[in-house]
Amino acid sequence: MNATCPNTTNVSFHDYQPELESFRHAVLHGLAHEHKQIPPKFFYDERGSQLFEAILEQPEYYVPHVEKQLYRDYAPEIATLIGAESVLIEPGSGSCEKVQLLLDALRPAAYVPMDISGDFLRQSSAALGETFPWLHIHAACLDFTRELKLPQHVPQGRRVVFIPGSSLGNFDLPEAQHFLFHIAQLVGKGGGLLIGVDRKKDKAVLETAYNDAAGVTADFNLNLLVRINNELGGNFDLAQFAHYACYNEAMGRIEMHLTSLTAQRVQVAGKTFSFREGERIHTENSYKYHPAEFIALASAAGFTCEQHWTDPANLFGLYYCTVRA
Ligand code: TRP
Repeated sequence: MNATCPNTTNVSFHDYQPELESFRHAVLHGLAHEHKQIPPKFFYDERGSQLFEAILEQPEYYVPHVEKQLYRDYAPEIATLIGAESVLIEPGSGSCEKVQLLLDALRPAAYVPMDISGDFLRQSSAALGETFPWLHIHAACLDFTRELKLPQHVPQGRRVVFIPGSSLGNFDLPEAQHFLFHIAQLVGKGGGLLIGVDRKKDKAVLETAYNDAAGVTADFNLNLLVRINNELGGNFDLAQFAHYACYNEAMGRIEMHLTSLTAQRVQVAGKTFSFREGERIHTENSYKYHPAEFIALASAAGFTCEQHWTDPANLFGLYYCTVRA
């Protein structure tokens, strides 16, 4: 924090220590797999969180622009549906940027940002507390793919989970189903879910979005190897791996991989892993949903879709759902 440390008495921070040991386990396990893979949550060390923020500014990655416009256009309508004095919970809150477009209209009783990256969460919640001095912020550092829990002393009020940015797309279908089910349990009957979900669309548009010309998405993907080198004593040569993203139409998902450019051996935590030329490490999926597909998924988890918004080009979907009584 810099010298002009703000007065952030409206912010409390709760560290649930999202098991760093699991990084080592996930990498050693994932690289030993026949199809090498590492779960995407490990992208988000501090550098990864910063690179991710930079991805959100790339012109090819349409999601943030389109989504923010939806919040600007529909904030009053969203606020009417949700009602005042709610408890707004955001898993994977990152820079807390999008929620700012809703706060003045929503006037929640409390905001609960959750993120796996502790330093980043501290900074963004402190900054948010400065911009919105009236807002009660209860930040929770946790891995939301493992646990969704609220800090103590969160006030009463309708609980609403807010998931912008199509984070749901990073889960496989069964995982997405579980995740929505857990959200329904957390918010309870009458509780809400405001969620942005990217739509299926033209392959070229999708592939351009995940292959920005400035190479930021590539750096973000490759930063996983930097993190392995730094934290797990790895010796990945970054020049020998390349970012690869493609749309798998049959699966309805963007896939991100790191491709080995040569046949090579790499050491991680004292173990050796061999790569064939062209062999890939699968690092992320981003599933795309037709509105009917998402609404069916949410319904199976106990949600009714109350309202659904989309942009004029049908790129992105925003949904407000509530748990059925
Ligand atoms: N969940 C969003 C998506 O899949 C944002 C995102 C996560 C992303 N990882 C990314 C975007 C990597 C670009 C590249 O679209």
